[in-house]
Amino acid sequence: MSDGSSFYITTPIFYVNDVPHIGHAYTEVAADVLARWHRQRGEDTWLLTGTDEHGQKILRTATANGVTPKEWADRLVETAWKPLLKTVDIRNDDFIRTTDVRHEENAQKFLQHLFDAGHIYTGEYEGFYCVGCEEYKQPGDLVAGAGEYTGQQVCAIHSIPVELLHEKNYFFRMSTFTDQLLAMYEANPTFIQPESARNEVISFVKQGLSDLSISRSSFDWGIKVPWDDSHVVYVWFDALLNYITAAGYGQDDEKFSRLWPATHIVGKDILRFHAVIWPAMLLAAGLPVPTQVFGHGWLLVGGEKMSKSKLTGIAPNQITDVFGSDTFRYYFMRAISFGQDGSFSWEDLSARYQSELANGFGNLASRVIAMVVRYCDGEIPAGGTPRDADTAIRDTEIRVTKTADAAIDRLALHEALAAVWELVDELNGYITTQEPWALAKNPDDRERLETVLHTVVRGLGTLAVLLSPVTPQATATLWAALGGTGDVQDAQIDRAWEWTGGSHVSPLAALFPRIEAAVG
Ligand code: MSP
Repeated sequence: MSDGSSFYITTPIFYVNDVPHIGHAYTEVAADVLARWHRQRGEDTWLLTGTDEHGQKILRTATANGVTPKEWADRLVETAWKPLLKTVDIRNDDFIRTTDVRHEENAQKFLQHLFDAGHIYTGEYEGFYCVGCEEYKQPGDLVAGAGEYTGQQVCAIHSIPVELLHEKNYFFRMSTFTDQLLAMYEANPTFIQPESARNEVISFVKQGLSDLSISRSSFDWGIKVPWDDSHVVYVWFDALLNYITAAGYGQDDEKFSRLWPATHIVGKDILRFHAVIWPAMLLAAGLPVPTQVFGHGWLLVGGEKMSKSKLTGIAPNQITDVFGSDTFRYYFMRAISFGQDGSFSWEDLSARYQSELANGFGNLASRVIAMVVRYCDGEIPAGGTPRDADTAIRDTEIRVTKTADAAIDRLALHEALAAVWELVDELNGYITTQEPWALAKNPDDRERLETVLHTVVRGLGTLAVLLSPVTPQATATLWAALGGTGDVQDAQIDRAWEWTGGSHVSPLAALFPRIEAAVG
């Protein structure tokens, strides 16, 4: 089925109703950095993102706003979700909406297939449902309400009362996949990442899975169940299918076999849907399960998971308007161990901007280019016989490239960046100890000066290649100043040190200029 020739990576599709905040942007950036890295290795790469547009929550908000749910979704996709991608510089290959015809039609094919194969039956659902989560809830998922909800049972995530449903529904025989899923987790230890997430999912599945209600009949904003149009498909069942309908399932077999399976990047809040329900659906359909499901941590603001409902939401452009998209991308990938929760603070962001981007990397780039302009009229010197200090820089370029590249395969984005930063620090240290400004004063040291400048230009180009997936704008500017060949985003990243370029540098404005404005 799958020829495994591509690197297909996805973000969750976002509830179109929500206001994009830095938590959503965080997921987008992580998936985008991974996609850019793989693309820069020369792999056939495909990044998918999109919006989740059906369900009761969206129907209710649209009605409250006096428009149809489709009009409501169209408006939000254009005014909120597509602009978010620009704000944080996402280079996605596709954008799927669950209201796309390609999704609706092929999701129906999938469902019909499961029905025909006997995986779906008619039953009665009686139990709780949280519209905030769009999820069926067990009594153990509820907590005692506070404030206006004192005395009621509320959803532990949304702190609002759940609804009691009693409906005739169609059910997916998920329980029959319990053993197959456990065997699959066992056989494929990296299927669920990180390790803590894997352990949690395995112990959950070991308790035995229930069947899943996969249709609703009390409202009609959704995909119609193909054999019974008085039901719409449960919104999560519908949404998960986006990953295959966007990849050509049901309509373009060649594309589908090239792309599928995918690596899914999701927040840990929706890990179970992706690591349990989704592979069970695929097993039922006889399709390959995802390559990997990675559950990243939450962004915390003031110690709490950031969310719009708790008024802790920060809009991504509050950050990018001041610091730019490169800083947003760098900061969240560097400061948070991917897979762990991380606290956001303006102070930490400003401090890292200043010390790492402006002083560490930006200043290095400006100094090197300025010295080549001043001492060599902009011509990049060929350099003479290298000494140990020069060879050490070369060795570091090779070592950090390999370390970072291997870290990317483990989805350890923060480790990849930490490795690349060793080169930033070593280049700065090398300039301090080699003192090219002192060498420039003595004509006898001319060859040594040229060797030193040659070495730092090489190192800087390697940095541009390695940082291109994370800070695409600054590295494109730097690459142009170094006279690099072609686009930096096409430079072979797993052999970054072999980059090629022209013979001259051109002047470079500060990559990360001083920021005067007070923020926060
Ligand atoms: N529509 C579903 C996903 C369906 S995928 C088939 C959904 N959407 S959502 O709009 O609520 O976005 C969920 C994702 O946004 C989370 O999984 C996570 O990736 C991201 N985040 C939302 N809040 C976040 C934080 N505070 N911190 C980090 N990521 C967060 O669930």
